[in-house]
Amino acid sequence: MSDHSGLHESIFTWIAPRLRQLPWRDTRDPWHVLVSEVMLQQTGVNRVLPKWSMFISQFPTVHECSQAPLGDVLRLWQGLGYPRRAKNLQAAAQVVVEQHNGIVPNTLDGLLALPGVGPYTARAVLAFAFEEDAAVVDTNIARVLARFHGQTLKAREAQKLADEWVPQGEAWLWNQALMDLGATICRPQPLCDECPLQEDCAWGGEGVDPSVGSAGVSVAQAKFEGSDRQARGRLIKALGEFPVLLVAIAEVMDRPIDIAQRLVNNLLDEGLVVRDGDELRLP
Ligand code: ADE
Repeated sequence: MSDHSGLHESIFTWIAPRLRQLPWRDTRDPWHVLVSEVMLQQTGVNRVLPKWSMFISQFPTVHECSQAPLGDVLRLWQGLGYPRRAKNLQAAAQVVVEQHNGIVPNTLDGLLALPGVGPYTARAVLAFAFEEDAAVVDTNIARVLARFHGQTLKAREAQKLADEWVPQGEAWLWNQALMDLGATICRPQPLCDECPLQEDCAWGGEGVDPSVGSAGVSVAQAKFEGSDRQARGRLIKALGEFPVLLVAIAEVMDRPIDIAQRLVNNLLDEGLVVRDGDELRLP
């Protein structure tokens, strides 16, 4: 283990007056933290803020979520996109109730066994709810790691480098600080002049960006306008209000009938929509 005390000092000094105030940072309730991290997997902070608060007040514990009709969970998810996450999150709540007595597990293996929980989300819950010494590699931190080390990393390499950096007993603040560094300074278009790691960064903002193509660093999302995601979202949104006749799907989704049909079949297969005679509704 090399000594990273200089790095720790730089980051902690930088973050102290800057830590973004976010409501999921004021709680250590593992269910509330899990909900926030699943939402933040693919959706930006500003869109997550109001949805997280509504979700938490409707489902303050795993029990309420586990017992709700999936349609209620999907309605609360409206606007966040990627609704499979909502289905997985409810399935995770059900596993916690049925196999863990309603207590969210506090081990990596226990968390990884929950539906929709991967290496990132599991470690985020360990660090942010249980304050365990886990290293979170989300898209922002993956970018910081690749640039600082000047290497396009594979997932295992990024995790290993992140693990080596975690200051003992300080993983909560460390991970939140690296996320904020990635979100505010080490952005895709970085502000290197303002970076606390400028002196030691292997990349330094000049030449080919090693984070491009590095594991976990997201590329720009595919265009939403005209996408399958948009059409699926339209149908789920409409179904949140009332059932939709099968003959109306092309109009509701604003797509040609063959495309609408294919998308509806996918949604039925995924269990996000159910058929009831000649109409569709939420499960
Ligand atoms: N993105 C993922 N997790 C986050 C967190 N805890 N705070 C801010 N942004 C995040």
